[in-house]
Amino acid sequence: PVHLHHRHLDITSLQELPDSHAWSQVDEYSAAAGGLRRGDSFVSENVPVIDLHDPNVLQLIGHACKTWGVFQVINHGIPTSLLDKTESTSRNLFSLPIEQKLKASRSPDGISGYGFATISSFFSKLMWSEGFTIAGSPLDHFRQLWPQDYANHCDVIEEYDKEMKKLAGRMMWLMLDSLGITKRDVKWAGPKGKFEDACSAALRLNYYPACPDPDRAMGLAAHTDSTLLTILYQNSTSGLQVLKEGNGWVTVPPIPGGLVVIIGDLLHMMSNGSYTSVLHRAVVNRSKDRLSIACLYGPPTSVQISPFPKLVDPSHPPLYRPITWHEYLGTKAKHFNEALSSVRICS
Ligand code: SIN
Ligand code: FE2
Repeated sequence: PVHLHHRHLDITSLQELPDSHAWSQVDEYSAAAGGLRRGDSFVSENVPVIDLHDPNVLQLIGHACKTWGVFQVINHGIPTSLLDKTESTSRNLFSLPIEQKLKASRSPDGISGYGFATISSFFSKLMWSEGFTIAGSPLDHFRQLWPQDYANHCDVIEEYDKEMKKLAGRMMWLMLDSLGITKRDVKWAGPKGKFEDACSAALRLNYYPACPDPDRAMGLAAHTDSTLLTILYQNSTSGLQVLKEGNGWVTVPPIPGGLVVIIGDLLHMMSNGSYTSVLHRAVVNRSKDRLSIACLYGPPTSVQISPFPKLVDPSHPPLYRPITWHEYLGTKAKHFNEALSSVRICS
């Protein structure tokens, strides 16, 4: 039969899971997780929730980064009204007809636009999600999506981007501070010593439609983020899970007004392995759709990232060699591909 290329299949309207999206029933990493399957329930610890006004905030963050690699923050200063507005712009975007969304497709070598998660290409099966990445101004793409009223949507996204970038910089400093790292230890500071100015933030909107066969589908396959850190907003439908040693896959429950902070690979390397870049994934739901918005925060691409000299001594030798973010991304993609083709964990 002739149909749309399967990568352009409109999954929002399907009553049955197509073969292209049917993953093996055996959970990948289930052995690592103690043999637990996706639906198993067991008593587990909870992902820490940290109040940024807490007087012990540095200790709490340090502990969460070492033991979990993920935590939620409340009292972060981002108004709920902005989170709500951004959610409704995102929903509006994903509810456009597929032909409209495809007009704003990400180009093969581009970053921004409508398309599948970049990790998709490493798996033989497709994920039950749609994505839209925004790096820089969303104007050109938004003009394609909403020829009449793009301006309003642009304003919302730009405000969200600005606020998230500020929060990400603040979180970055709190995390470094709890490792004993000060501004003087960070080499890529901008002209006024503000390294936040030199860092970049991209937004990634993720939409997971309700799925007719959630046990055999995957919203977003297990991965670690290749960032310094990621700040994730999720709507009230749960789906984000993190792998915790001895606990298996632990759900990160949505909390009203809360934001999830995920440690990325670069911070893991800079901390010489003491902060964990947590393996996480998104599972899908039979009755409810789900929306998440990730702010991907990273350093200038050409700066060398390496373990802070302060954290290295004869009993803690450097675990990672200096590498730029650019080079790291290439290396990771290559290893990801090789690992998957040799063990075939996902088809
Ligand atoms: C992500 O890993 O960036 C998104 C996960 C989620 O949708 O919860
Ligand atoms: Fe992620």
